[in-house]
Amino acid sequence: MPTRRNRPLLRAGMAGMGMIFDETYRPLFERLHREKLYTPASGPVEVELVATASRTGRRARRYLEQAKGKIYPFEIYAGPNALRQLAESDVDFICVATPDPRHYAAAKLAIEHGKHVLIEKPSVLRLQELDELVELARERSVLARVVYHKLFDPDHKKLRTLVADGVLKHVNNGYCSLLEPKRIAFEQFAEWIAGRNPGTYVAVHYIKLIDFTFGGRLTRVTATGQRGLVGSPEENTWDSVQLRLEYRYDDGREAAFDIHTSWVTPDNFPGYVEQEVQFRFDNGVWNAHQRRRGVEVTVEGLTPHELKINLNNHYNGAFLEPWNERSVRGYGLEAIERFIQEVAYVELGGAEDQRERRLEEVRALDYADLAADRQVVAAVQAMEAILEEHARGHPGSLVHVNCPDGGLVLHRPGSADPKVLYAGEV
Ligand SMILES: NC(=O)c1ccc[n+]([C@@H]2O[C@H](COP(=O)([O-])OP(=O)(O)OC[C@H]3O[C@@H](n4cnc5c(N)ncnc54)[C@H](O)[C@@H]3O)[C@@H](O)[C@H]2O)c1
Repeated sequence: MPTRRNRPLLRAGMAGMGMIFDETYRPLFERLHREKLYTPASGPVEVELVATASRTGRRARRYLEQAKGKIYPFEIYAGPNALRQLAESDVDFICVATPDPRHYAAAKLAIEHGKHVLIEKPSVLRLQELDELVELARERSVLARVVYHKLFDPDHKKLRTLVADGVLKHVNNGYCSLLEPKRIAFEQFAEWIAGRNPGTYVAVHYIKLIDFTFGGRLTRVTATGQRGLVGSPEENTWDSVQLRLEYRYDDGREAAFDIHTSWVTPDNFPGYVEQEVQFRFDNGVWNAHQRRRGVEVTVEGLTPHELKINLNNHYNGAFLEPWNERSVRGYGLEAIERFIQEVAYVELGGAEDQRERRLEEVRALDYADLAADRQVVAAVQAMEAILEEHARGHPGSLVHVNCPDGGLVLHRPGSADPKVLYAGEV
């Protein structure tokens, strides 16, 4: 049992110190440093961020300098060996928030060194990678979990509750859109944007919501998109993507979902992002709009750049509490805290000879388990293969899921040869 001076302690490692660290991990680690974590089985647990790994270490050093007293003085690893050094260090779990195509390598190193991992969405980009990490996590007896904070949004919890209770009956179709500002593509992700697309980056939020809330088997994937702003119109870097997923349910009925994403929305847009969904059921319609559920504020000289006109006070809002304490709270932090509670339950929640049972109990909570992310990863792998074919001059491919030729099979218009992306069952 990890302890410090005989007090229960969990030591955290952070791979990637970018935007998402700043928005959710940083305020959570600062709160846990002040207040500890609690689970009924473990009681109070100290949680400290003790080590970080990033490309240059610049932002980590700046944060450590500014955060004096708010956080434990953590170790900073930087450069090409940083992820390995972090994995070899004395941490109990590692949160992976490196760029989308660099999750797999970071998570693999962490799991190989016996650390629990929490991976930012999208977990990994290929089912082959998912299989390897799931098997490794079983071998090393650790948790491999994924952050999907949209499942923690109270509106989405309500949607799932109405579906689970049979109030909303059988989803038939729906659309979702998530539009990110230009500064994400042109500034924030400039280092790793080449060859990427906004679908993988943000459609996964809604793919998971659909997959987890409605269940069913993914059967077909199609996608298209537009290029020319972030990269050349000839290459495989995408401004916006339109993805269609088709599902089949146990009763033989089907549903289709369109998910539109972009990272070229003007920076002076009134909200930080645009997020909207509509789901149509046999007996109802669910409409949700993230900006329109909220507040509208105008301040001369501040809105809409420094302060947005439509604030999202549910994700990671900064508040002055009625008891005059400053806080940052919301479902973005809740999703990470829940993972740390799960680690605390496994490591500190009872007798050592019951650890394996506790591990299995947490794994069975499939909302975040990497093993249960199969259909989401399949959708991402299919979409990326379709976009790659499109960029090679062959638009309009279709991916069939679990058909006689394999688990994930790409059909190109005009070609008699299907391409097997993943041979096993999805
Ligand atoms: N849950 C969410 O809503 C949410 C929101 C934003 C981003 N994300 C995800 O989090 C991940 C990071 O996004 P971000 O916005 O923080 O990106 P970012 O570009 O701001 O930061 C990336 C960080 O990873 C580090 N890094 C890059 N390559 C590395 C390597 N090889 N070894 C070690 N460190 C490396 C960089 O130094 C940087 O600190 C992405 O996968 C993204 O999809 C999730």
